Amino acid sequence: MNQPRPALQEFTIELNGKNCIAKAGETVVDVARREGIDIPTLCHDTRLEPAGACRVCLVEVEGQRRLQPGCAWVCAPDMKVTTESERIEKHRRVLYGMYMADHRVDANGLPVATANENQLRTLCEGTTPVKLEAIEAPRVGRPTDVNPYIEFDPELCILCARCTRYCDEVEAVNAITLAFRGAETTISTAGERGLLDTTCELCGGCIDTCPTGALIEKKAPKDLVQLETKKTRSTCNFCGVGCQLDLHVHNDRVVKVTSPEPGETLNDGNLCVKGRFAYDFIHHEDRLTEPLIRREDGELHPASWEEALRYAADGFNRVKEKFGPDSLGFVSSSRCTGEENYLMQKLSRAVFATNNIHQCAAT
Ligand code: SF4
Ligand code: SF4
Ligand code: FES
Repeated sequence: MNQPRPALQEFTIELNGKNCIAKAGETVVDVARREGIDIPTLCHDTRLEPAGACRVCLVEVEGQRRLQPGCAWVCAPDMKVTTESERIEKHRRVLYGMYMADHRVDANGLPVATANENQLRTLCEGTTPVKLEAIEAPRVGRPTDVNPYIEFDPELCILCARCTRYCDEVEAVNAITLAFRGAETTISTAGERGLLDTTCELCGGCIDTCPTGALIEKKAPKDLVQLETKKTRSTCNFCGVGCQLDLHVHNDRVVKVTSPEPGETLNDGNLCVKGRFAYDFIHHEDRLTEPLIRREDGELHPASWEEALRYAADGFNRVKEKFGPDSLGFVSSSRCTGEENYLMQKLSRAVFATNNIHQCAAT
């Protein structure tokens, strides 16, 4: 597929008979999505280099004998592309049938639904996959994988390599890879180690990008797809970056955390291990939910915010009056927002007249 790069920055192509503007370097899928033309994809992720692995997005390109992958085919001036035809439909029905042949399917012959979205199932539901004889694929998981967060089901994997490419191209971690050959090909690690014995950072990005639910969170309820959940957008409070999260809430409890779609927010679909998995504190019984003041009896007692703030201010003032302003020191946190850190140094310098202000990210 060695295609020459077009010299023009912007040019016209024909998509299903309609003239469309394409920019240099854009693929057929890029232009089609902008134009509202649906081309199904599985191995495609806008954050990754195209791999052309799953063959779901094949389209007809005038002058090309074979169908070509729309996710990887770079547009050229005056190119003519057809995205829906009898030939393409037949190709997809056979392709889905081939995927089904070594896939775990339900009573209707559709890919089983897991706790995560199964895009292959959705595509199969929209057509009639050709029924092929089932074959046994001796794929193996990672038997020693005792990590607390990520589960891999090799029977639902279509080897699209989105997870391995994400781990390599986005996380730059290379913890997982395509391993073995032929029917035994699977997603594994060097030496088939469990993820905890690799460079894996447990970011969970491989789960998010997996299009079939072969990778799922261990923490989320297994029947999550059947549960009624509400999604609430929030800002992660583990550091000051401000990554956006979607909290999946069932019966007033957070049961799963995901990132908004790539391109939607500044974290571009990515989260770290804390943002994605460390949400137990929200409902933890030890969590402080109101201010506490240690009274003369040495015990902590609930107080109002007004009283607690007054109590703290009086304490600071007593120390300042007795020992001078530089006897006080203020330490701020990278978990706070920029505005909060700004206010902290204002409190230190303008209110208590000391430059003893520090922020943990400064070291
Ligand atoms: S959790 Fe993150 S680092 Fe670990 S294998 Fe998945 S993508 Fe790679
Ligand atoms: S685990 Fe998911 S993302 Fe990875 S290769 Fe299999 S289907 Fe693709
Ligand atoms: S989405 Fe194009 S080949 Fe997979």
